Amino acid sequence: MKISNNITWHHMIVTKKDRHKVNGHKSCVLWFTGLSGSGKSTLANAVDYELFQQNFRSYVLDGDNIRHGLNNDLRFGDEDRKENIRRIGEVAKLFVDSGMIVSSAFISPFREDRMLVRNMFEVDEFIEIFVNCPIQVCENRDPKGLYKRARSGAIPHFTGISSPYEKPHNPEIQIDTSRMTIEESVQKIVKYLKEKQIL
Ligand code: ADX
Repeated sequence: MKISNNITWHHMIVTKKDRHKVNGHKSCVLWFTGLSGSGKSTLANAVDYELFQQNFRSYVLDGDNIRHGLNNDLRFGDEDRKENIRRIGEVAKLFVDSGMIVSSAFISPFREDRMLVRNMFEVDEFIEIFVNCPIQVCENRDPKGLYKRARSGAIPHFTGISSPYEKPHNPEIQIDTSRMTIEESVQKIVKYLKEKQIL
């Protein structure tokens, strides 16, 4: 969408770097992507809890929750998913600008949309985490009973069944939640953040 000619960017006095200094760590987005039931929200919450316990500034943006508010006008067709991810990208950018480590848990099934969000950020600020869990496992878990309903045809455009999921080619981190425990997964992510000197 084209922006109006009558608005100009206002530069802020307190910068992102100033906030990093006060917080004692850098900010970034941990972009969890994967099928419904793969464990994105569980992992994002577990990472957030660990960071919070260690006094880091962190927050979770969750697909189901955001769709109750900010994005309650969007459904699951390709165009709406694209807009869903674009808006979340912008929100995540605000959080990163405010100095937080933001864990976002959205299926975000399309490579192009994830790339669009990646390009909103500086290098090393966008960390794509592919929650790579086989669909059979997700379907067996079926925590919300959605796969069952999707198989019966009651839910159109269901990711992995009647709508595609495009796997990331080069995610920064990959986690198979059918093989790793939550604790191991959290440690892998925290280790990565330390190696990259974000923490
Ligand atoms: S995304 O594709 O636009 O990134 P998002 O993460 O916001 O999806 O929302 C996914 C959640 O919405 C799922 O966890 C599930 O609970 C619910 N949902 C409802 N309908 C669908 C559908 N057709 N496809 C996938 N998820 C759906």
